Amino acid sequence: MRNPRSAGAAPALRHGARTLADAPGRGYDGVAKTLHWLVFALMLAQFVVAIAMPPMRRGTVPGTLINLHFSLGIVILLAVALRWLWRIGHPVPLATSELPEWEQKTARAMHALLYALLVVSPILGWAAASAREFAVTLFGLATLPPLVAARSRIGFLAGDVHKVLSWTLFALIGLHILAALYHHFGRRDGVLQRMLPGGRT
Ligand code: HEM
Ligand code: HEM
Repeated sequence: MRNPRSAGAAPALRHGARTLADAPGRGYDGVAKTLHWLVFALMLAQFVVAIAMPPMRRGTVPGTLINLHFSLGIVILLAVALRWLWRIGHPVPLATSELPEWEQKTARAMHALLYALLVVSPILGWAAASAREFAVTLFGLATLPPLVAARSRIGFLAGDVHKVLSWTLFALIGLHILAALYHHFGRRDGVLQRMLPGGRT
């Protein structure tokens, strides 16, 4: 009798050369993927807003774009915190675990750095907004408490660091995307499929 499993097998499997995407039970689940792509969409929007919003100086009155920047930033912080918590409960080995040691270390360091900046940067932005006496709301629905005292030195310093870390974060995301595209089009090793809807989990 014909085995239904072998009928759907990928050509790579039939030739005995498993791709990483074909490794069973080792991938990202639906929640991890959804949160990954949600954060991507939010960061894309945040990138456009950060470029388009007016500079924040003494006497600036936050308009639509600045308020949108705050709201998007808080939603990103919440989504990344949720993603991180989910990751603790559902660990996934690196796709690169069968690749050279230096690649595994680089990938791990890059992912950790992305998580760290995605958490630290919005908190510093929130502190900067507090120092500038801007109300931080979630799309005007709820007002968040200030993180530091109005006009405090630490708050203004947080603003300077927030700017540097945020532009660094966007640059690292660019590198992360280039790495994913290199795996897909250069190596053709199934790393990108692991993060795509319908990819093996
Ligand atoms: C805001 C943009 C993005 C951020 C912040 C981000 C962040 C991350 C993080 C933190 C991980 C590690 C997941 C974990 O182990 O928990 C990851 C994995 C991954 N990301 Fe992204 N990502 C972004 C956009 C993209 C894009 C646009 C692509 C594809 C072109 C992509 C492809 C991947 C792939 C394939 C993995 C899995 C790598 C592996 O299993 O080793 N990411 N991403
Ligand atoms: C991951 C989320 C965030 C990213 C990527 C981000 C990105 C940026 C960038 C790139 C700038 C500099 C814009 C420029 O060069 O003119 C900036 C400035 C600023 N952001 Fe954010 N931001 C985020 C979250 C937040 C949050 C949550 C808040 C407040 C609740 C916030 C408040 C501010 C403030 C107050 C400034 C001006 C800083 C200063 O000049 O002192 N940001 N942000």
